[in-house]
Amino acid sequence: MNIQEKEISHKGLTFVPYLAREKIAHEVKRVAQEISQEYKDKNPIFIGILNGAFIFCSDLIRNLEFLECEIEFCKVSSYEGTESSGNIKQLIGLKQDIKDRHVVIIEDIVDSGITMQGLINFLKEKNPASVKLCTMFFKPANLKVELKVDYIGMTIDPEFIVGYGLDFDEWGRNIPDVWILKKEQK
Ligand code: IMP
Ligand code: MG
Repeated sequence: MNIQEKEISHKGLTFVPYLAREKIAHEVKRVAQEISQEYKDKNPIFIGILNGAFIFCSDLIRNLEFLECEIEFCKVSSYEGTESSGNIKQLIGLKQDIKDRHVVIIEDIVDSGITMQGLINFLKEKNPASVKLCTMFFKPANLKVELKVDYIGMTIDPEFIVGYGLDFDEWGRNIPDVWILKKEQK
């Protein structure tokens, strides 16, 4: 798959090139520098949110070469009750005690913000020293809840994207560049 290609299709949907891997890598480095400075001597715990953030997380962490830190991976299950409740049903895989620790959530994309709002509320109940949110992609136009996004790789249009860990029905996570849904299909 090459960004030079004009279109890629899956299950009847067509995607066109949007963000090249070099641009993404540049922004990941910038975010890593910000985090390195802010968390110097704080020994933060990074919580990577599976599945989508696995690529962003590994790229980001490799750029935090000189930062003393710990890394966990968790999965957030779907919401309980109404979509807007912000309550997360379950956080699978958090083994670390985060009490009095500095926590940084690593997410692939913030869309409505409901998932992250629920997760942050859940984590705050465990009395960490701080909780901050780092996302590779952010669609501010789609935000439905009040949410502070502390570190942002790239702010993007409110359209559906795939690649760099993000999927369409589990397809496309392995594509190194980011592709966007072709407009006239909507
Ligand atoms: P939110 O709760 O609406 O912010 O949903 C965030 C989650 O929805 C992300 O972690 C992704 O799994 C998924 N998502 C949102 N937008 C996209 C997209 O454009 N492509 C792929 N997945 C997306
Ligand atoms: Mg996700």
